[in-house]
Amino acid sequence: MFDYTKVDPEKVEFIEIAPENELPAGERLFVTIGDQSIVVFNIAGNLYAIADLCSHDNGPLGDGDVEGEEVICPRHGARFDIRSGKTMGLPAVKDIPAYPVRVRDGKVEIGIPLPGITRNG
Ligand code: FES
Repeated sequence: MFDYTKVDPEKVEFIEIAPENELPAGERLFVTIGDQSIVVFNIAGNLYAIADLCSHDNGPLGDGDVEGEEVICPRHGARFDIRSGKTMGLPAVKDIPAYPVRVRDGKVEIGIPLPGITRNG
């Protein structure tokens, strides 16, 4: 489980990615921070960030269709909960990272785990 949204906020570094108005409801934004490809969704005004990497066969996940709070991998149809990165449907069986998101001074920020933080249940 790689749900960094549950990590102590002291153990992540928040990185500014975009002005809030660039991510309106129903939209998504792709960013790369270090070696991590991340997609940020605005679902009905709530922001969520998950890895743009399907755990089934490393396909890009972020372009997939969204149903409710799940994204469907465009390659083979695996489903993931956008809020937690939890796998919700085969063929993927491993969860993917979910990152904390916040808005500060009109800017969207993503929390990236500090070195040494690799997992949390
Ligand atoms: S790469 Fe995503 S379901 Fe196969």
